[in-house]
Amino acid sequence: MVALKSSLNKYLLPLPGWRRWLKRLQAESIPWPGCFLYNAVSTTSIFQKHYELAAEDITKYCSNGKLLDIGTGPGWLLLKLQKLAPALNLTGMDISADMVKKARENIARAKVSASILLEQGSADLLPYADNSFDMVVSTQSLHHWKNPVRGFNEIFRILKDGGRARIYDIVTDVPSAVFQNSAREYGWLKLLMLWIHACEEPFYSRQATLELAGLSLFQKGTLEFIGVLCCLDMEKKLQKNFH
Ligand SMILES: C[S@@+](CC[C@H](N)C(=O)[O-])C[C@H]1O[C@@H](n2cnc3c(N)ncnc32)[C@H](O)[C@@H]1O
Repeated sequence: MVALKSSLNKYLLPLPGWRRWLKRLQAESIPWPGCFLYNAVSTTSIFQKHYELAAEDITKYCSNGKLLDIGTGPGWLLLKLQKLAPALNLTGMDISADMVKKARENIARAKVSASILLEQGSADLLPYADNSFDMVVSTQSLHHWKNPVRGFNEIFRILKDGGRARIYDIVTDVPSAVFQNSAREYGWLKLLMLWIHACEEPFYSRQATLELAGLSLFQKGTLEFIGVLCCLDMEKKLQKNFH
């Protein structure tokens, strides 16, 4: 019990005090009826624009390989990716069975030609073989993961050598220039709502996000902003073969 507590503390370390408690209290998945509410919110322009921005960013790195979206939620990012890069082999995964159902409905309604695989699973224990994906992405899900370092290690395991992870999430310390630009684009009201949301969700700071990457097998990561989302980029460096 003591060992479990200290290992949890290690992973929660980058969060300031009260956010650690939020993290302990918050449910990891978004089950029914939360999935209906989130699905509705995610159809608004600010969300849809960010799926588009993330998809454009992702396809700069990978346009025809095997790609996994962790915590895919309603599946909109997969649809944007499919439209931009039809050659991508797409898999979406979510810990919530209700969200997987919602994503299946949204994707079926969009009548896309290529198949998109949707599965239930956790970032903690990815149900995929070692070295099997070219790229792993995730939007607005990292702050839900109970054990983000284990999640990063799992991503490292399933990525091919040279593969890349890009993990997009809201952070607690958005730089003012990013905030001002987004305010011009989306209006202050939407950003105010985002800020209020940031107070009740256990988002990480930029520094904490980098610390999590540093604790993982990736050993390091870099950050950049894509719209208001902070993107953590981590690469699985080619393993040197000494034989
Ligand atoms: C805020 S939603 C984001 C959904 C979508 N990616 C988006 O950008 O709209 C977070 C999603 O992450 C999922 N999730 C939370 N913890 C997870 C975990 N450990 N593994 C996989 N999915 C998880 C939740 O069920 C939920 O659907």
